Amino acid sequence: MKRNPLTVGTHQRGRSLLLVLALLLALGAAGGAFAWYKFFREEPQPEWITNDPDMRFKYGSIGAERDAGIPYWIFYVLPRVFPDLLPGPGGYASFGVVWEEGQELPAGFSKKVVGFPRVANNCASCHVASYRTAPDAAPVFVPTGPNHTLNLWAFFRFLVDCAKDPRFNADNLMAEIRLVTDLSFIDRVIYRFLIIPITKKRLLEREQQFAWLYRTDFPPWGRGRDDAMNLTKYFMIRWPMDDSLGPTDMPSIWNLGKYKPEQGMRMNFAGDSHDPYSVIIDSALGLLGAPPKNNDEFLGQVRWIQDYVSAKRAPKYPFPIDAEKAARGKAVFDATCAACHASARTGTVVPLAEVGTSRDRIDTWNEKAAREANKVVRDMGIERPGLVEAPLTGYVAAFLDGIWLRAPYLHNGSVPTLQDLLEPPSRRPTVFWRGYDVYDPVKVGFITSGAEAERIGTRHDTSAKGGGNEGHAFGTDLPPADKEALLEYLKTL
Ligand code: HEC
Ligand code: HEC
Repeated sequence: MKRNPLTVGTHQRGRSLLLVLALLLALGAAGGAFAWYKFFREEPQPEWITNDPDMRFKYGSIGAERDAGIPYWIFYVLPRVFPDLLPGPGGYASFGVVWEEGQELPAGFSKKVVGFPRVANNCASCHVASYRTAPDAAPVFVPTGPNHTLNLWAFFRFLVDCAKDPRFNADNLMAEIRLVTDLSFIDRVIYRFLIIPITKKRLLEREQQFAWLYRTDFPPWGRGRDDAMNLTKYFMIRWPMDDSLGPTDMPSIWNLGKYKPEQGMRMNFAGDSHDPYSVIIDSALGLLGAPPKNNDEFLGQVRWIQDYVSAKRAPKYPFPIDAEKAARGKAVFDATCAACHASARTGTVVPLAEVGTSRDRIDTWNEKAAREANKVVRDMGIERPGLVEAPLTGYVAAFLDGIWLRAPYLHNGSVPTLQDLLEPPSRRPTVFWRGYDVYDPVKVGFITSGAEAERIGTRHDTSAKGGGNEGHAFGTDLPPADKEALLEYLKTL
């Protein structure tokens, strides 16, 4: 038989082709496994976080590391490389983050390995309160309380400003990282050629959506405030920038079970959302910055958070209360305030014309935005009652539990103390400093003037956009003795 060289050749070539293919596959699998290990493998957080509900709320991952996380070592060295871009001395502490002694990261910052350690945020970054009863007293931390010290505006800008800076490059960052840790050769290569350039790019992508933070005709939000619906508008539904600005206080989120959506109660200051479940979903999606990897897992997190915040109660007032005076104050409250704050109206929207406070927050959101945002969430395969698809008409008559710790007052934090809120709008302070954590038991709120408050706090000017202190004149014409008694009663809530 005549050997067909071609056949033999084909046969042999076929064998070697198979061999190469097998080799490539093996290499590919190893490479794939390597890439998966180095970039995507998820390691559980330590048990001191996952086993303790308060720790989990403060430091637990809600899954934001994957798409919104910052590589740990970059996060670590940014304040060292860019101290001039911070709002003050002290690294991340200069943003007024809540930092517990002995913790590596501030409350609200979660660390998790997704391929490599990454840092992201959770609800606690805005929803943990801190206060001191005196300048020399230790700080007290209250999970689910409002973070009235956080300068979120400055934090957002810092990350973008760092990425924009020519000093944000692999040489500078690696030099600084080498001073604080010993990465393996392969991790150094990965950081230098992939992680640093990709992080820079990802941070720069936010610049456009954060454009309203850079407007010179808008005031900074100041400590303890967040322009939440504009964030939703520019990040979730990606609307072009408009001229609205509506920073609000961070709200308390304790005792969420008090909201009864079926009785017409609404969530958020302007009543833009139907129920706690929806607000928690939307807040968590905002932190994730991308659709969840796994909806069941995500909604499991949401339910855990909802149970946790529903079970929490407002903390007790930490100074003595004159019980007899407070009892007299209750009668004043029942006559003057209860119609909105302890009745069927509580938790429902009071028309703007009736309450008379600043309308700027209302103007940051509308029916069309609600429809689009609801669609975005529905398209992720997540069902929830969602945002209210109707025009916003006023502000929610707040539940007043723990009101002593929710200063400054009104949705936009424009009135420093409860005593000031009982003054007619024209006699309320027009300039004060927000974000200092020492409490003032006389006026009932935080100290908002004087050397320390001015050194640490940010200046609030009620004539600036989004900062108006008009309206809510209820009780302002009461006799002084009634006001005093009412103030005493408000401490008991
Ligand atoms: C960046 C700061 C920030 C983060 C992070 C954040 N929130 Fe909020 N949250 C706010 C602000 C500000 C509001 C008020 C928004 C408004 O009405 O304008 C709010 C409103 C709420 C409300 C409604 C409160 C009420 O009484 O109407 C709930 C509930 C809530 N947040 C829960 C959460 C949960 C749960 C998370 C984490 C998944 C979270 N938030 C993350 C800032 C934040
Ligand atoms: C007609 C209804 C109504 C009456 C009466 C009323 N309030 Fe209010 N209250 C509201 C509404 C609505 C808001 C939210 C306004 C805003 O934030 O712009 C509010 C907000 C507040 C806040 C601020 C809550 C926060 O988280 O900052 C306090 C404190 C308060 N009211 C106390 C009182 C007291 C004390 C009285 C009686 C002297 C009173 N209110 C009477 C409707 C009312």
